[in-house]
Amino acid sequence: MDETFSRYRAAHHPDWVIRAYEVAPPAFAALLEDEARWLAARTRQGRVLEVGCGAGRLLRAAGLDRPGTVGLELVVRYLVAARAAVRAAALIAGDALRPPLAPGVFDAVIMAQATLGSVGGEAVRRRFVTSLADLVRPGGHLLLTAYGAGVRAARREWYEAQQAAGLLPPFDPERTRNGRFVFTNGFASEEMTPEALAMLRPTWFTGEVEELPSGLLAVRWVRGGAPQGREEPPNT
Ligand SMILES: C[S@@+](CC[C@H](N)C(=O)[O-])C[C@H]1O[C@@H](n2cnc3c(N)ncnc32)[C@H](O)[C@@H]1O
Repeated sequence: MDETFSRYRAAHHPDWVIRAYEVAPPAFAALLEDEARWLAARTRQGRVLEVGCGAGRLLRAAGLDRPGTVGLELVVRYLVAARAAVRAAALIAGDALRPPLAPGVFDAVIMAQATLGSVGGEAVRRRFVTSLADLVRPGGHLLLTAYGAGVRAARREWYEAQQAAGLLPPFDPERTRNGRFVFTNGFASEEMTPEALAMLRPTWFTGEVEELPSGLLAVRWVRGGAPQGREEPPNT
């Protein structure tokens, strides 16, 4: 499969990610709270980067709207909405695969809301993880979440609520199956197994996959001392 994250730019509705969470049915809203709680507990201090921060919803929900936090986002329209919602965090436009940021400086790098399942196939996911891992300082954390099989029903309800609100087009019935939801505009969101997520762990990182109470999969990988891909930055 090709890179599909470009679908965020060519969204069915221009305010898609800005409004999508407003229509979350109760089971999906509980998943969002579960995720925010898990992230908040692991990012109480330090320099934190959220990749794919959208309109800043999670930065606020996880208590990350503070100096020292950076939100990176591909879609400028979402970033403009984030600027209106977020007070203290820095926000920058950019692509996670070519992040306009220095390597090795963040205490924690987050890519949440199962964004990893919508960027494309396994090879693209690996490129994302490698790129994000490079931004983590030695001893720092890479925090990712993904949809497991346990949240399939809650996801379907949420997608249907977005379709009813005009934010997403219909499902592509030929290609929607087994936890992979594909829409007629080509956007696809995939479920992952704990094993598939664990396989993405970058070299020099340690940590296991967890299943949160809502069924969401989460990893906190800790970076060891050796560099990932590049020279170790000075003064770390
Ligand atoms: C599922 S949304 C999550 C938004 C936000 N984190 C939240 O929870 O409310 C995924 C976000 O990642 C952004 N994104 C996708 N690919 C990206 C990339 N290559 N670089 C930066 N952001 C990206 C999308 O534009 C979108 O805003």
